[in-house]
Amino acid sequence: ELDEQTKDIIKATVPVLQQQGSEITKRFYQLMLTNHPELKNLFNQTNQRRGAQPKALANTVYAAAANIDHLEEIVPHVMQIAHKHKSLNVQPEHYPIVGKYLLLAMKDVLGEVANDDVIDAWEKAYYVIADLFINVEKELYNKTLQSSGGWEGFRNFKVTKKVIESEVITSFYLVPEDGLPFPSYQPGQYITVKADIDGEPYTHLRQYSLSCAPDEGYYRISVKREDENEQGPAGIVSTYLHEKINEGSILPISAPAGDFILDQQDHRPLILISGGVGMTPMMSMLETVIKEQPERQVIFIHAAKSENYHALKERVATITSSNNHVTSYTIYNHPKDTDRCDKKGYIDAEWVSSILPTSDATCYICGPKGFMRTTYVSLKKSHVAEKDIHFEIFGPAESITA
Ligand code: HEM
Repeated sequence: ELDEQTKDIIKATVPVLQQQGSEITKRFYQLMLTNHPELKNLFNQTNQRRGAQPKALANTVYAAAANIDHLEEIVPHVMQIAHKHKSLNVQPEHYPIVGKYLLLAMKDVLGEVANDDVIDAWEKAYYVIADLFINVEKELYNKTLQSSGGWEGFRNFKVTKKVIESEVITSFYLVPEDGLPFPSYQPGQYITVKADIDGEPYTHLRQYSLSCAPDEGYYRISVKREDENEQGPAGIVSTYLHEKINEGSILPISAPAGDFILDQQDHRPLILISGGVGMTPMMSMLETVIKEQPERQVIFIHAAKSENYHALKERVATITSSNNHVTSYTIYNHPKDTDRCDKKGYIDAEWVSSILPTSDATCYICGPKGFMRTTYVSLKKSHVAEKDIHFEIFGPAESITA
């Protein structure tokens, strides 16, 4: 419990920190990674360069601090981060390191404003917040260990099958190298791949959604090859997976995690909307619902650049033709003359309204940020309640609702 004086200092300084947010986080990562270079194996160096993740961590600390009187209110947000931390194998002993360099960075950037009282108060607040994360994460780790076949950290899986799904997406089927059991998961969850690539100074960790139904006897990830473009160089890990990982290769992965999951207690119509490789968790949900809730109405909407980029097209067609309750729609942004789709161009509110069977539906969205923002707004305009719109952002979490 923090004393009143500490709370007052925290509340008074949150706005100052938020204002200097980018400076402090830049300095924080610089200091931490210089003094603990081994943490470069943990933090995504590409996100670092883009400056996306750095903001997410510190912003969450400030947001938590602003809510220090009623931390329970931020627990839903904490859960999403805790799942990510768990997937990366973040441990309690990491927290004092992050705390130390965050405080040093505050001091550095704020100068005189950050007097001893201010720093003391923030140290106390940081540990209250860190304890919350550590406890939530401990529960997640224990739950995995207690599940049949669960494991801690990374476990070697063997690629049993590699399937090209589209111009840029390839699936990898994975089973444990040791041949022992491995846990089920919730559709929508992801794993982390640990890639130690020749010539790379550090390990690269990346999350990939599981793209099939659980309990099929394997895990499957479907990976988009991130080619070089205006936004940046080629993806290090996706290129490695596509080019160097083949049937028989070994990939260390962490156990399934993530709280963007299909609610199977809900029986209302299910609307699954994806753009590009955002299709992966939606496929897992679709494959699961036809097995577990065969009577449930499902609308599966997928947007891709064109037919060449449309992954798992045959599988979705097979599902719709053999399940009366499932309807699918395809949007192609730039179709070729011979491509067949339900809508050309981009998703919009009018079109969404025209195909939505009812506004009393549960919607899951996954795809690029702009796509998700448009979809979110389209659903709201079609009178879907905010609480019924669930979304997952690939990459550091940022708001799409604002
Ligand atoms: C990701 C917050 C402590 C390692 C994140 C994200 C947030 C966050 C908001 C982004 C989540 C997402 O992408 O979905 C926090 C807060 C912490 C904390 C508030 C302290 C109270 C730590 C610690 C470590 C750590 C102690 C380990 C040294 C990571 C890593 C990522 C991450 C590796 C993935 C993003 C990347 O690789 O760039 N954290 N975190 N975090 N966090 Fe933390």
